[in-house]
Amino acid sequence: MTGEQPFRLGVLGSGKGSNFVAIADAITTGKIPAQIAIVVSDVAEAGILEQARQRKLPAQFIAPGKFRTKLDEEAERAYVIALQAAQVDLIVLAGFMRVLKGDFLRAFEGRIVNVHPSLLPSFPGLEAWKQALDQGVKVTGCTVHFVDAGVDSGAIIGQQTVPVLDDDTAATLHARIHVAEHELYPKCVAAVARGQILVQGRRVIRPKAAS
Ligand code: GAR
Repeated sequence: MTGEQPFRLGVLGSGKGSNFVAIADAITTGKIPAQIAIVVSDVAEAGILEQARQRKLPAQFIAPGKFRTKLDEEAERAYVIALQAAQVDLIVLAGFMRVLKGDFLRAFEGRIVNVHPSLLPSFPGLEAWKQALDQGVKVTGCTVHFVDAGVDSGAIIGQQTVPVLDDDTAATLHARIHVAEHELYPKCVAAVARGQILVQGRRVIRPKAAS
């Protein structure tokens, strides 16, 4: 990256942060040409903040405000200010359990990615692994996608399949999906950071010359 500004990631999460760890480790081993500029959580005691602090990365709790499933207007502003101050190039949602809307989407249009624990467009929303189990599908997986104004509906960057086994519980299936996420998400973030992908409407492609 000599002479170039490093590609800066802003990571948002609400939970234990295993996808964050996979991405941070991939940066450390040189698989993603980027740096983590800031980690933000809507949950003060979230594991992801602890994981970031252990790695001496800037980590911040920003209160989400009065709603349960989205940020309120004031919180939205605070998130945008913190992420812009950190000069992020890409927002990486790693288990961030609120839908992003309005001013946030406008501030980072086309620059937000998410990992979801199903093969979208199947099973958007909460507990996608449980939805898959209840539906009786034999194959599920995970999806990395751009974030748009809908719920888990943006253009798909990558997907990885995971078998559903006869003796699976919600916990065992989610654990297997997590393993797939930890492989897929760093690869997709690396491709975005390297400028290797092209978005054509709903299709995200990797032009041959760039892969
Ligand atoms: C992951 O399985 C991710 O796909 C899911 O939350 C988990 C976070 O785990 N996200 C969603 O369901 C978003 N709709 P982590 O905190 O260990 O990375």
